[in-house]
Amino acid sequence: MKGYRLNPLISRDQIASIVKGLADHISKDYAQREVVAVCILKGAFIFLSDLVRHLQIPVQIDFARLASYGSGMKSSGLIEITKDIELSVEGKDVLIVEDIIDSGRTILFFKERLALSKPRSIKVCALLDKKARREVEMEADYIGKEVDDLFIVGYGIDFNEAYRHLPEIYYVTPID
Ligand code: IMP
Ligand code: MG
Repeated sequence: MKGYRLNPLISRDQIASIVKGLADHISKDYAQREVVAVCILKGAFIFLSDLVRHLQIPVQIDFARLASYGSGMKSSGLIEITKDIELSVEGKDVLIVEDIIDSGRTILFFKERLALSKPRSIKVCALLDKKARREVEMEADYIGKEVDDLFIVGYGIDFNEAYRHLPEIYYVTPID
């Protein structure tokens, strides 16, 4: 995108080792249980597909799309479900798979919505966590890597729909 520079942050190898580590941890915690992995579209689509291929437990997969109003670098607090899950999660162990937790509002909203369907448990697995930016009380159960207050792209994560296809993770800075 014109006027911006992409700076390497997390390499392919680093991502692979982070994702494998998360999957091993999850497989151990859920041993013998079946989990419903709910991918938050669009940003977590690559993360989910890598993560589930390392899981050593039975897993069902579903997708939800949450729109937070506003585009570009700032998300608003207003959240809407534009595509809901299709599986029934009543009595099931649900694992929400998200790309980045920033203010925490998106996941808090979705967790509360999912809870209405009476799952047995709900946990959150986030690839990246911008802990310093939190505006609500929301801690993920599994975190790939904590990152500073940077604007991230690549590995499924976009800037106005660009850069999702990049296999590495970058942070964006304006060129002045
Ligand atoms: P939250 O509701 O403020 O926690 O925002 C989380 C959502 O904002 C994530 O699902 C991402 O889609 C988006 N987001 C947060 N930080 C970034 C970023 O650095 N790059 C791209 N998207 C981001
Ligand atoms: Mg996004």
